[in-house]
Amino acid sequence: MSQDNAVPGTSASLTRHALVTGAAGFIGSQLVDRLLNDGWLVTGVDNFVRGSRQNLAPVLLNRNFQLIEVDVADLDDLRKTITPAIRRQPVTLVWHMAANSDIAAGVADARVDLRDTFITTFNTLEVMREFRIQRIAFASTSAVYGDLGVLLTEDTGPLFPISNYGAMKLASEGLISAAVESYLDRAWIMRFPNVIGPPATHGIIFDLMKKLAGDPPDLEVLGDGKQQKPYLHISELIEAMLFVVANATNRLNCYNIGPPDEGVTVRAIAEAVRQAAAPAKPIRYTGISKGWVGDVPRFRYSIEKLSRLGWRPRYTSAEAMQRAISEVYEQLRVPCNS
Ligand SMILES: NC(=O)c1ccc[n+]([C@@H]2O[C@H](COP(=O)([O-])OP(=O)(O)OC[C@H]3O[C@@H](n4cnc5c(N)ncnc54)[C@H](O)[C@@H]3O)[C@@H](O)[C@H]2O)c1
Repeated sequence: MSQDNAVPGTSASLTRHALVTGAAGFIGSQLVDRLLNDGWLVTGVDNFVRGSRQNLAPVLLNRNFQLIEVDVADLDDLRKTITPAIRRQPVTLVWHMAANSDIAAGVADARVDLRDTFITTFNTLEVMREFRIQRIAFASTSAVYGDLGVLLTEDTGPLFPISNYGAMKLASEGLISAAVESYLDRAWIMRFPNVIGPPATHGIIFDLMKKLAGDPPDLEVLGDGKQQKPYLHISELIEAMLFVVANATNRLNCYNIGPPDEGVTVRAIAEAVRQAAAPAKPIRYTGISKGWVGDVPRFRYSIEKLSRLGWRPRYTSAEAMQRAISEVYEQLRVPCNS
């Protein structure tokens, strides 16, 4: 446990102070960058189990940013390490992004999602209650819906997730809803689809590029290639998150965030990745309909509610994918996330 880049006395004019859990991850690091640009004072916490300092390199020297290395699943350590930052400047909003992002790892060992997806939420809410922080924006997921085969709206239910990750996210949503009843003033639950772009720490483009970097005889693709999901570019996700938090004014707000289309197939992604990184390499599908236990091979996402609030993405899934493939290719040419 250590504290880096401590802010020596914060600017008096900065009254908006955000606490971002999972700040060193793919989404957290981009969010931190945007919040700082928008004039927030930001305290980021992460234990680097999956994220890295490198992801935060552009902001590490920003005097309005403080990075604290701590396991959010350890309540005593969390309380101890964040107390000085909160005492210096009360936190007005928590962005809870920390979670296990490897669904397969959580299926193999249920304790992974219990700790990194659920206990992190429990502890985040505990410190919010103790420090009287009343607003939370939560990174939830399409995985809470399970494999229902219907157009997924925020009202769809009953929800039976098929991965421990989805189960622990759904349980986290329940904790947040209960906290709104008792001590939170406002909460935003945002259910993300597959998010792509740099700095990738996981996900299909990252996984396929990493495999190709090892120069295998062929490109192994999990599943039969027919899985089809919506994809959203990270830049648009950040826009959408900020928009929802600024404009959704119920005490408890729940929104799907995604593109307005049925997504792209894994086969199309694999072919585009091969084209970008190793055009001569054959592709080999492992053949089963699901990529892994807990995978939801096809889902359709309604973003009607988000559209009514006033936000729609510019890119389709296919456009986001094309952009992200070239960005992640560039990212991995300079190895930094391994
Ligand atoms: N990327 C996606 O496609 C996607 C889709 C749906 C939901 N989400 C959610 O968005 C959030 C961010 O995901 P991401 O893609 O940036 O994943 P990521 O793995 O890149 O980021 C998560 C961060 O949380 C940190 N973390 C995990 N457990 C921790 C702990 N116990 N203590 C402190 N830090 C811890 C990791 O080190 C990592 O930096 C997660 O909550 C994830 O479930 C992501």
